Amino acid sequence: MSKLPRLFINQHLPEHYLNILNEKFDCDYHDGIQPIQSDELLKRVEQYNPDAILLVGSLKIDKQLLDKCKSIKAVSTISVGYDHIDVEECKKRNIAVGYTPGVLTDSVADLTIGLLLATARRFEEAMQTVRNGKWGPRDILASCGKSVTNSTIGIVGLGRIGMAVAQRLKSFGVKKIFYSGTHEKTFDNETDQKLFSYVEFFYLLSQSDFVIITCSLNEKTKNIFNSDAFKQMKPDSILINTSRGSIIDQDALYDALSSGQIHAAGLDVTVPEPLPPTDKLLTLKNCLILPHIGSADVTTRNKMIQVAIDNLRNYFENKPMVSQINV
Ligand code: DGY
Repeated sequence: MSKLPRLFINQHLPEHYLNILNEKFDCDYHDGIQPIQSDELLKRVEQYNPDAILLVGSLKIDKQLLDKCKSIKAVSTISVGYDHIDVEECKKRNIAVGYTPGVLTDSVADLTIGLLLATARRFEEAMQTVRNGKWGPRDILASCGKSVTNSTIGIVGLGRIGMAVAQRLKSFGVKKIFYSGTHEKTFDNETDQKLFSYVEFFYLLSQSDFVIITCSLNEKTKNIFNSDAFKQMKPDSILINTSRGSIIDQDALYDALSSGQIHAAGLDVTVPEPLPPTDKLLTLKNCLILPHIGSADVTTRNKMIQVAIDNLRNYFENKPMVSQINV
């Protein structure tokens, strides 16, 4: 009988990684790229009794699942966000939780800048014009967007990703970067000390031309972008979210965008994911939506998978995980 730790993987991974995992684990996985549904997952883990779960996507690891499957010792998520895992519950049960911070910072920051530019310069509308044969003579100010140079930026959550976004924005010649979050940062040079200011959330909203969400989702940040928040924002401001959809109250966002309370939004994350094609946000010209591709470049995704595998391998070899949340 196999003595290898039993590992459940909730979605198919490239063959190469499954081969690596099969050397160290007795693996059971949900085949295919369709995510496994929660009730099926419960059944599968109850039958299989895994020692560990490797998570692709944002499948929930909660009390209900942990109650059903008492054998779990470690969970490893292929993501930096871990709002889908009840970390407190894992801690109570001494379950180690691994994640993949760091390796995706640049990729998400690049996507954030891309989304900001695409939203500010109205890429989607412009592309439709070309596709639909509507590219013809036009008013000199038609298709114009909003300039990033000399603008005031507000970053909600200046962590690893927020800082990488800010560093990129410096090269655009932005005038000022306000940031809000849990604590003030220190900057080691005078240019940055002048450029960055730690401010209160509503003040940031009232001053910024571009508001960028890069904070993590938790009880404090859930729905902080609600109707009260949108009231504080400038009518020509643009909101960018590459963090988690639940930070925004989407009904309030729809109202703010359709009434002109704010100018536009670019979202890489929504509630739910996938967003149904019938969602009312998709009827708006001033809302650009991507299907959560923040970390989706080949190099980054491979690094994320590798870190998630190493987290598990280390754990079962009695070594520290590469990146553990609840150490
Ligand atoms: C993460 O890792 O949490 C990102 O959202 C993936 O794109």
